[in-house]
Formats: sequence, C-alpha cells, structure tokens
Amino acid sequence: MANKILVLGSSNVDLILKVPRFNQPGETIRADHFTTVFGGKGANQAIAAKQLGAEVALITRLGDDHYGQSYRRYLTEKGLNPKTIFLDKKVPTGIAFIELNPKGENRIVVAPGSNSLLSIDDLKRSSSFFNGIKIFIVQLEIPIQSVRLGLKLAKRSGAVTLLNPSPYRPLSKEILSQTDFIVPNEIEAQALTGLKMKKDQDLPKIAEKILEMGVKNVVITLGPKGLFFKNPNEEIWMKAYKVKVVDTTAAGDAFMGGLACGLSDGKPVRETLRFANATGGLATTKLGAQPSLPSRKEVETLVKNQSTN
Ligand code: RIB
Repeated sequence: MANKILVLGSSNVDLILKVPRFNQPGETIRADHFTTVFGGKGANQAIAAKQLGAEVALITRLGDDHYGQSYRRYLTEKGLNPKTIFLDKKVPTGIAFIELNPKGENRIVVAPGSNSLLSIDDLKRSSSFFNGIKIFIVQLEIPIQSVRLGLKLAKRSGAVTLLNPSPYRPLSKEILSQTDFIVPNEIEAQALTGLKMKKDQDLPKIAEKILEMGVKNVVITLGPKGLFFKNPNEEIWMKAYKVKVVDTTAAGDAFMGGLACGLSDGKPVRETLRFANATGGLATTKLGAQPSLPSRKEVETLVKNQSTN
C-alpha cells in the first residue's frame, strides 16, 4: 500500500546538555545533565506523524558509522522502510549540539554531516515512494536542489506539499510556487519577506506577502503565543495550549507532523491547526526531540480538555 505521508529531510544525533545558564565566550561551565537522543528535523517530523498513526516514509541520509547504523535500526523498528534511509561511507552522521537552560530555551549548533549529501540521486532512487502519497513534507537541513526536486516530484504525484523553512535560507519562486503550506516561525517569516514584526497586528501583512510569493497557505508559528494562519479566503488566530514547558526542541517538528496528519485525515483547516497546535505544545513538556513526541491519544485528550479557539 502506498505511504500516505512522505518526509524528505535530515536526521541528526542530538547531544543535549542541560546547563544552569548559557555561558559567555571563553567561559567554561558545568552541565547539570547530558543525554544523547535521535533528532534532526526530517526524522523528527516523520516520527511525529508516525506516532499520530499515519503511514509514513522518510527519505534521509545517515553516516555509515556507529550513530548512523543504530539510528537506521531504530527508524526501521519504528516502522519506516529502510530502502530510503541511505548510509554514507564518506561522511559522518549529522550531529546537533543542544544546550538547554532552566527556562526550557535552547541553543543549537548543527554539524550536518551526511545530511549535506542527501542528493538528487537519492530522490531518483526513491521515486516509487512518491506514488500515491497524500502529503509531502520537507525542511531546509538538506541541499536546496533536493528540496526543489522533492517538491516537484510530490506535486507531480498530486500530493499536498508542506515546507518548513528551517533553518532559514532564501527560497526561489520555483520552490515557493510548489508549496501548498509553508510553516515558518516569526523569525523565518520576517527573513522570508524582509518585513519586521513589531506587533502581532503585523502578521496579516507578512502572511499576505508570503502568499504573493506563490505559496497557497501560510501558518506562522508563534511559540507561546500560538499561531496565525492565512490563505486567500481565511484568517485564523489560535492561542497556544497551556502546558508546562520543559524543552522546546522539536516543538516545530511535532507541529509539522500534526499538520500533515490532520490534512491527510481530511480534517477542516481549523481542526487541523488545533491538532497540530496540541502536538507541538505537548512536545515541549518532555526533554529531547523524538522522546518528546506525543501519541495521538495524548493529542486528542489535550484538544478535548482545553480550548484555544
Ligand atoms: O528541530 C529540532 C532539531 O533541530 C533537533 O532535533 C536538531 O537535530 C536540529 O536539527
């Protein structure tokens, strides 16, 4: 049976240091805790959708090293097809160094490793995985030419395409015009448009400019303030769910998984956004990227018990 959601993107091993505070240049401090978990925006988004019950495939590239081999085994055990999880002999697995302070804020430095070699050839080798997909998701931790081809193949298959422009880099008209839903945070939305967001009321103007660039729907995620959605017919403001924040890492990735699932389930836009909003919110309540991703039951319970709008 065809996979309903196809994710193209990065996989990193996240080395997480819980620190009492962010240190100054030249200063050495002690971490309170250290842990290693699986992460990377592409894999996080794939596992988020998988845990919500979707059929998912992930096109990604790991190093043929200890991290890469155990990550590939783990993804396969999670139910992802290993045929599109490539191992690279030349370059190590991508690594993210994540510092986390007591407020739940993070600072991340990524060494992309094998993610930077996720190539056009990998996509060609995975071409059968585009058949019959409903939703395609991509982010920007991989080469831009692969992002562009992925979107093109997905549109050719009749899929709804979701682009998470993170980490931000300038995007061509070709990429934006193949994007059905773009999901930037406030910083990425400002970078994309060159417009400054001084107050919340600036969001419609920023989203309008993104629509003019050729995208069909814009969802700007606002962290603890929720989200703003706009397409040519509708504007939606939604508050964030009230949760106890431990670590915001992968909240955006969880949101993407929730959005993809809501859309593939055929939920209306507002309901889909509520589902994604709850998935993202719950991911902030636990430490780490993939260990923090919630189940469908947890998401549905939050949506049922708390109203946003
Ligand atoms: O979005 C969170 C992810 O960003 C982390 O898992 C880390 O690997 C970086 O890619």
